[in-house]
Parts: sequence; C-alpha cells; structure tokens
Amino acid sequence: MKFSKNFIWGAATSAYQIEGAVQEDGRGQSVVDMHCRKPGAIWQGHTGAVAADHYHRWAEDVELMKRIGLQSYRFSFAWPRLLPSGAGKVNEKGVAFYDRLIDALLEAGIKPFGTMFHWDFPYDLFCRGGWLNRDSAEWFADFAQLLAERFSDRVTQWLTINEPQCIAGFGHFTGSQAPGVRYPRAEMLTVGHHVLRAHGRAVQAIRAYGKNPCQVGCAAVGVASVPETESAADIEAARRETFSLAPTDWGKEFWNTSWWMDAMLLGRYPEEGLAFFGADAPKIHAGDMETISCPLDFCGANFYSAVSTVRAGPDGLRERLPEPVGMSRTAFHWAVTPSILRWGPRFLYERYHLPVFVTENGMSNVDFVGLDGQVHDPQRVDFIHRHLIELEKAIEDRVPVLGYLYWSLLDNFEWDHGFRERFGLVHVDYASGRRVLKDSAKWYGDWIRAHAGAG
Ligand code: GCO
Repeated sequence: MKFSKNFIWGAATSAYQIEGAVQEDGRGQSVVDMHCRKPGAIWQGHTGAVAADHYHRWAEDVELMKRIGLQSYRFSFAWPRLLPSGAGKVNEKGVAFYDRLIDALLEAGIKPFGTMFHWDFPYDLFCRGGWLNRDSAEWFADFAQLLAERFSDRVTQWLTINEPQCIAGFGHFTGSQAPGVRYPRAEMLTVGHHVLRAHGRAVQAIRAYGKNPCQVGCAAVGVASVPETESAADIEAARRETFSLAPTDWGKEFWNTSWWMDAMLLGRYPEEGLAFFGADAPKIHAGDMETISCPLDFCGANFYSAVSTVRAGPDGLRERLPEPVGMSRTAFHWAVTPSILRWGPRFLYERYHLPVFVTENGMSNVDFVGLDGQVHDPQRVDFIHRHLIELEKAIEDRVPVLGYLYWSLLDNFEWDHGFRERFGLVHVDYASGRRVLKDSAKWYGDWIRAHAGAG
C-alpha cells in the first residue's frame, strides 16, 4: 500500500517567521518583538521586522506555491495582527490580509491549513501575566472563536497551538525563545498546563463557531526514538523510549512526547511524569483534563530528528546506541535520521489511535544562489526523498497518515538563530526580498505530481 490519492502534500510557514510588517496596518506587538529587542537574544541581533516580507509579497508567494504544485499550505494567524491588544477590538486590516491570502490560495487550488498560534503571543496579554495567568486559556478561546467566525467558511483544517513543549520549555524555562523568561520548573509546568487548556478551549471554539465542518488537530514536537533493527524487541524498546519521560542527556525535562500528548489525547498526564515532577506538577482544577482532551480529528506532529536509536538490552532494559562517527548532519547540526518518519507516526498511532499528520519535517542547508542564478540543494532533495521512503513504510505498516508538510516554504526567521538557517524550498534574498525556487522545490513538485492520485 502506497500513498493514497487523498494524501495531502504541502509546505508550512508561520506568521512571525515570514510576514514582517510588524508595525503596519494596526498590528499590535508580540512577545517575539520584545524578545528581539533584548541584546544578545537573537543571533547577530536579527529581528522579524521585515523577515521574508510576506505581508507585502503574499501574492507572489501563492504564485510560487502554485508553480511548485503544493496541494496544501500551512500558515499561522498572527494573534496581535488580528487583536492588537490580544483581546477586545478586532483589527479589520489584519482580517483583510488573511482574507486576501486565503482567497488567493483557494483561487490557486491550494487548501489553506490554519495554525491558530505559532508563538507570537500578544505583548499586552504578557503584561497581564501571559500564559502563567489561568485566564490565558479564555483569552485564547476568544481568539479561536474570532478565527472560526471570520475564516472557517474557507479554512476547514486547523491546528491549535504549535509545539507546546517549546512554548513552555524554551519560552519560559531555558529562556532561549520568546518571551524569554526563566521560571522555575513548577511555573514552567503551569504555563504548559494553561497552554494545553487553551488548546482544548480552542478545539471547543472551532467546533462551536465553525461555519463549515472543520478538522482540528494538535501540532506537538514529535520527540521520538527509532529501533536499531526491525525485531519486535528492538521496536518495543524504541516505543518505550519514545514515550519515556526520563530526562534526556541534554537535561530538557519538557522535551518529551507523553507529558503533552497523553494529556491532549488520553486525558491524563503520564504517571511517570507526575512521579518525576512531584510537587512541581501543575495544579489540576476540576474539568481541566476533560477540556484538554476534547476529541481531535487527527494527531499532528513535527518530526525532525530522532532523539536516539535504541535496542533491546538484557533483562528487558533498553539501550541507547552511541551515535555513529561521521553521522550525517544538517547545517543546523541536527542528525539526519529518516526512519523517524516510519516509527514516529506508527508509535503515535498505536498509542493514540488517531490518524497522523506530519505537520513539519525539513532541514536547514547551506543554500546560496549560484553563478547560474539557480539554488542547487541536493542534500535537501535527498533528505526529503529518504524521509518520504520511510513515511511510505509507515503506510505499508498500515498507519493512517493523512499528509506531509515540508518545513518550510520559504527561508525565514529561525527564532533565536535569526536568519542563519535556511529551511526553505524557496531561497529568499533578505536584502531585496527576491525569491528563487531551489532545486528541491522542483523535485518536490515532481514528486507531488507523480504521487497525486497514485493509489
Ligand atoms: C519549530 C517551529 C518552526 C521552526 C522549525 C525549524 O518546530 O521549532 O515549528 O517554527 O522554524 O521547526 O526549527
């Protein structure tokens, strides 16, 4: 069994990373704008003030998507562009921007896939306590209602909150990303609990106020490990490692799958996590877990690099293999581990029993415009190809996978790394805004044409 004809092929972006125009047409400020003002917070002091200038070049970008042959485009709505203070008065110019974009996508035959929130939290709400304030879930529910009322006549596929792990962990614990605060572990977990409640309230809002039937899912980091061999024992070892909460070698206690996904998809925090966090675990009010675990239509996950390769050890223990010398790496130095797209979706499906959507996968590369005016990125072509071969194996293993979104359509602002990393299918010259389709964009387009309607 191969990719079915209904399989969705697309690419993803997020608002702050591409839009620019942070002071334009009534947009309010976000915590990312604030974080960018901190000396030393972002590589070389870059900011998203202009970014890929998508706010002005959206029509050209839709044209490029059409040229590539994308079927789906995942983008996020900038909360402070629609509600400058985070709550209250709507900025109609912001609504008009997304109206134009959505209409152009539909006109081009590309299905819009909306992310409600991709980290650009309104500054004014941060001043009211941000995600630490329990009311944050209601602020977000009101925002989700607005999205449903204004856009769900045309946008029927939704993701709620991108990567709760990163919001809580990088945003409020290590402080490397916006808002860049370093709370103690208990407060970080409270932030996480409120983010998860906000996710649930947003699911309720899209169901209650959606103008058309909508499909909604989560978009968590797909933290996963892979087995050394296909033996049942190694697979079981990798499965257990994937859902384990044991702090990883790099000490990121928030960097796991089960704390976040069990809450959203099973309605409870894992016992191992509650024991591990002890008194730091968040206070759960009556009804919280029901809200957090409102039924979803699919399980979305962003898969980049396997945490480890695992084999069954003696006495039922599992062993992490040391990384091979000379491991293939991306420009970001992330290990290239294509089998994450076979095992990651499979483990999620077995545990949560929902179809899986690969909501991000991609790599940064050392791309530049060549003397011939082209951008040759054979490593990215190979990276995508290898990952899709593995994803196909998941489908052969009878895992229902709904679609694949490459991260990213455009080179863009990679958070604390500024514009250093190039993830795009499309090269962006930041000084001029000029776009060039990379070889990988052409390859991916050919792949889509060859596979659309394949099975
Ligand atoms: C994330 C975000 C993206 C990143 C991408 C590459 O996963 O961190 O969803 O905004 O740009 O993942 O790091």
